[in-house]
Formats: sequence, C-alpha cells, structure tokens
Amino acid sequence: MDQSSDSVQTRVLGILSGKSREDPFSVFAEARAEGPVLSIPHPMGSEDNQAWLVPHMDEALQVLKDKKGFTVDPSYIDADGVREQLTDSVDEEAPDTFFTGTSMLFMDGLDHRRLRSLVSKAFTLKYMESLRPRVQEIADELLDNVEADGEMDLVKDYAYPLPINVISEMLGVPEGDRAQIQTWSSAIAQGMGWGRQDPAVTKHLEQFGKYTKQLVESKRQAPGDDLISKLVTMEEEDDRLSESELISMITLLIFAGHETTSNLIATGAFELFDHPEELQALKNDRSLVPGAVEELLRFNGPSTAVGPRYATQDTEIAGQPIAKGDMVLVLVKSANRDEKKFTEAEDLKIQREIDRHLAFGQGLHMCLGAPLARIEGDVAFSTLFQRLPNLQLKYPREEITWSFVLSSQGLESLPVTFSFQ
Ligand code: HEM
Repeated sequence: MDQSSDSVQTRVLGILSGKSREDPFSVFAEARAEGPVLSIPHPMGSEDNQAWLVPHMDEALQVLKDKKGFTVDPSYIDADGVREQLTDSVDEEAPDTFFTGTSMLFMDGLDHRRLRSLVSKAFTLKYMESLRPRVQEIADELLDNVEADGEMDLVKDYAYPLPINVISEMLGVPEGDRAQIQTWSSAIAQGMGWGRQDPAVTKHLEQFGKYTKQLVESKRQAPGDDLISKLVTMEEEDDRLSESELISMITLLIFAGHETTSNLIATGAFELFDHPEELQALKNDRSLVPGAVEELLRFNGPSTAVGPRYATQDTEIAGQPIAKGDMVLVLVKSANRDEKKFTEAEDLKIQREIDRHLAFGQGLHMCLGAPLARIEGDVAFSTLFQRLPNLQLKYPREEITWSFVLSSQGLESLPVTFSFQ
C-alpha cells in the first residue's frame, strides 16, 4: 500500500500501531523535518484535549525531565488515558498486572517514589555486577545446547531465553513456568499498539496476573532467597506495599525484564550483521562491546516511544501551546537519531562517543533495569562473537522475518549458521 500521500503523523501512528510496513526510521526523519511538535488525533477521541508527537531530543528531554509539568498518570488531572480501554475490558475479579493495576510505570509523586525505592536496592550497579558470572553461565549454557548443530535461531535459542532466565532467577520464578510466561508476555508485547489491542491481550494479562498471585502465595508459604520473597516480606511486615501493588510490580519486573532486553540482543545482532565493518571491528577488539551496546541502543533500541505523558498545567513546547491534560508522546527512537545531536545520526558507529541517548527513557521513570540490561547486552554479544566467530545469517537479510513488538519492529526469528575453527 502506498502510504506516501498520508501525512507524516498518520504514518508515524501507522508504525506505532503495527499497521504500516514502512521503514520506521525514514518516517521518523520526515517527522523531525516537519517540526518539533506535531499534532495527532487523540487516541481516546477526547474533545477537551489534544495529543502531540515529539520527535526531537531537546523537546523529548524537556518533557521527560519536567516532573512537575508532565505526569504519566492522567487521573491526576482528569484527562483520558490510553490504558482505560484495556483496564475496562479486564475482568474486575482478575488480579492486577503492571498494565491494568498500580505499577510504578503509571504512577507519579509519592506513590511512585515509594514503589521505586522498595526495589531500587535490588537494581544497584553493584548488585547487578554480582550477577554477571551467572549471566555468563546462562549465555554459555545456551550456546552449549546448540554447539553441535552448527546453526540456531538466534532469537529462540539465545536472545529470548537469556534475559528471561536471568530475571526469573532474580525473582525466583520456577524454571518450569518460564515457557508459559514467555507465551503470555510475547502475546502482550505483540498485541498492543497505538489505538490497537488484540482481544487476546486481555486474556493473557488476566492469566499472567492469576499466575503471579499464586506465585506470591507459594512464596508466602515457603519463602526463598529471591526478590519476590523479599517483596512479600515487605508487604507483610511494613505495610508499605499493597497486594495489588505487589502483583503489579512483579508482573512489571518480569515483563520489562526480558521483552526489551531480548529485543536488544536480537536486533543488535541483526544490525551488526548488516554493518559488517562494525562487526569486524568488534570481533577484533572485544573491549569495544560496552560502547557498541550503547550505540545499538541508540541506533535501533527496543522502545519506540515511552509511555504517554500528560501536561499538568498549560505550558509550551518549542513555542507550541500545550493545554493542561494534553497527551504528549515522546518518540525515543526518533530522538536518538536527531541530527542536531549526533553526527551522521543514521549511521551505526560502534566507536561513537555518546553523551546521552533515550533508549532507557529519562527523568523519574528512567529504566530501573538499565544496569542489568547493559550487563546482559555486554555478556550476550561478547560471548556470541567470541565462541562463534564465524557466525553468519543463514538466509539473505531480505528473508528475515520481522514482527510487530513493543509498538515497533522486532525479529520473529534470526536463523544463523556457524562452524568451529
Ligand atoms: C534493553 C533493555 C531495556 C530497555 C530498552 C528498557 C527501556 C525502558 C524505558 C524506555 C523505560 C521508561 C518508560 C517510560 O518513561 O515511560 C523503562 C522503564 C522501566 N524498566 Fe526498562 N528497559 C530495559 C530493560 C529492563 C530490565 C532488564 C528491567 C528489569 C526488571 C527493566 C525494568 C523497568 C522498570 C521497572 C521500569 C519502570 C521505571 C519507573 O516507572 O520508574 N527494564 N524501561
């Protein structure tokens, strides 16, 4: 379908909803050329408020860092939120999840601070570093499993299982349950887009919530040395966490802890195959891996946009008046290619000096798991190219299958071959 006659806003929304097959980055470049704030139809059809796209870095930072001027929680200001439709469709009796309940992603103010501080200690750089040896073992075990075959699906055999096993071990999710969690969370990640929600998403969210509630019960009966058990103790002893918050938090950590990171590993590997000189430089000097991870996050990171923000008062962005209650959607993938901030922004350069990218968001809601994701990315790429130096795509790049995931493109599978030297 020729979409070039549509406005650039419509084409951006086509990408965010999964309806468009256009290259997202060329559409985002056109959006940046159009201006710093672009008007879009309000997804809830609000008559009182407007919605806006923000595709540049400076304005993205303005919105994400202004904790008084913008909120993730529209109920603070009586505005329409995009979650309402889904929240309304879920069975009232079903336990909460990160999306339908009270998770920190959609809260602000003191409640956000309280919830985030409860888990922050588990995500310090020091603690994350202490997990590195185990992340390494998991990466090695995954490659041991496929070593003799000379080929694998890099998504199914490596990029997906690595982060889900890491976060599951941290939280204390039994090994036998992880495949089921994968089914639910993939369906959720693929089923929700701008103005679009597959009916099956409701069912998967409900089942994910019910499962998590049972898991919490089992930790109450037999606590272990894991993060869920610690959170359950906090709920019981200090009364700082309600049952709804606890279950919302756990589903958030499980979902956010692996969907995005597996996308980083799979898409990152694809981008490296697509830029053979960069890949060769990385193989020649593996000390370049941490910098390459940052560049891969900037160049084509897992999140297209952060959650919508709502103006808490009348304000302006780049001279455009924004009314109280208006919705603002920050396009982080576009801001990360802002030509005013990065030279040759559309090129992948693993040795680029990066001051800042927005792949983990910015401000109060900046990704809690960023240190863990960075370690996983570092271990995943180092191990992959060290152990399988002659790794190659099995089929030409045009035959690679992409799917809609997390409001953008993700890889459905990435068949690769290798042989031992
Ligand atoms: C490459 C991997 C990852 C990427 C690109 C990523 C991206 C993001 C982004 C963009 C946000 C901000 C959302 C917003 O402002 O609306 C966020 C928040 C969050 N992420 Fe990540 N994430 C990744 C890995 C992880 C991991 C491994 C965890 C660990 C459990 C995690 C847990 C969270 C949590 C709990 C929040 C909510 C923070 C808050 O609202 O205060 N993420 N992530």
